[in-house]
Amino acid sequence: MSALLEVDGIGKNYGSVIALRDVSTVVNAGEVTCVLGDNGAGKSTLIKVLAGVHQHDRGRLLVNGTATRFTSPRDALDAGIATVYQDLAVVPLMSVWRNFFLGSEPTVGVGPLQRLDRKRGKQIAKEALADMGIDLRDVEQPVGTLSGGERQCVAIARAIHFGAKVLILDEPTAALGVKQSGVVLRYVAQARDRGLGIVLVTHNPHHAYPVGNRFLLLKRGASLGCMEKSEITIEELTRQMAGGAELEALEHELREVAAE
Ligand SMILES: Nc1ncnc2c1ncn2[C@@H]1O[C@H](COP(=O)(O)OP(=O)(O)OP(=O)(O)O)[C@@H](O)[C@H]1O
Ligand SMILES: [Mg+2]
Repeated sequence: MSALLEVDGIGKNYGSVIALRDVSTVVNAGEVTCVLGDNGAGKSTLIKVLAGVHQHDRGRLLVNGTATRFTSPRDALDAGIATVYQDLAVVPLMSVWRNFFLGSEPTVGVGPLQRLDRKRGKQIAKEALADMGIDLRDVEQPVGTLSGGERQCVAIARAIHFGAKVLILDEPTAALGVKQSGVVLRYVAQARDRGLGIVLVTHNPHHAYPVGNRFLLLKRGASLGCMEKSEITIEELTRQMAGGAELEALEHELREVAAE
């Protein structure tokens, strides 16, 4: 069986800026591929190539084993690749259930008599959310009244409901505290266990490690490798994220300062 997504030696420039070079990884059904790296490492650029926002200049992107080039986000969505962006996930003043559908609301009637089927829409949204263990008293409340973690969960539940095969999450826990991060990671694990292939972008190795199957490490656009979980410990992952040798040099330097 071929991977849902295969990234094979992909490169991407923005003018003279090399944002990605020779990056490879895979996304399989029922697994989580984590993308880790510091600011400017190229994480969002990689996500945008997978989501059809940008096109790669070099290398190949294979979808179910076939070399593909998305020309728009719609293309990627049609291929079953749903992306949840940190800020663009929801419309704050719109109700939870309208956010859940965002333009794909169920309707009743035909032609000029067609109108929103609010009752059914609310019920579907409520059930889909309950199905993921999100119990909201009222799906009519504005999404802005939900916590950051709950908003991410609404976006995840929506992607699952509309049949996504691949779910891309760009820093879903970046703005969240410890407890809410835990809630979001639990939904990530649930989506994984339902058979979706997940791409999880994060700065935090402690968020990546418990749910991840493999870890792609990016540094200034280059790949430091893609390790399977069995090939790397949480300590080593943390060390590599922190810059490894650079961090040791810094520690040494700070010790010397303290000793003076
Ligand atoms: N639209 C763009 N035009 C020009 N350069 C860009 C563009 N988007 C990103 N870059 C550059 O490409 C590099 C990688 O950026 P990218 O946003 O992919 O990093 P990132 O890993 O997502 O960082 P962060 O953790 O800060 O979100 C950076 O040097 C950035 O300045
Ligand atoms: Mg980014």
